Amino acid sequence: MDKNELVKLALDAREKSYSPYSSFKVGAALLTKSGKIYKGCNVENKAFSPTCCAERTAFFSAVADGEREFSEIAVVGGEDEITDFCPPCGVCRQVMSEFCDKDFKIHLYNGEEIKTYTLGELLPENF
Ligand code: THU
Repeated sequence: MDKNELVKLALDAREKSYSPYSSFKVGAALLTKSGKIYKGCNVENKAFSPTCCAERTAFFSAVADGEREFSEIAVVGGEDEITDFCPPCGVCRQVMSEFCDKDFKIHLYNGEEIKTYTLGELLPENF
């Protein structure tokens, strides 16, 4: 799939972000090996620790729908306009490692350009 299209879907997903505590809105679009797309946004909580990142929202939604194999994800985040890359947190990288190979692609967008990493680059070792 075209990475620009996946980033666009992540931007759409970001519109749904529930982030009244941080005001940091994150969106993700996850592509399965079978060609389906699952979107996710961050969902915050008054007690803070129950907060779920956009990436995990997308993964858990896909797994709950029976999907187990993934090829790429686009992630975008920021307070207002997107001005910086938003690399996945360590917990999300570990979740990705549960279902994805080292060559799983992670596309990040800073409002101007897309930078693509593999999961192996962002998480060389996993538990
Ligand atoms: N967040 C994500 O959704 N994904 C990440 O990879 C990093 C952080 C969210 C969690 C929280 O709602 C907000 O960004 C600020 O940390």
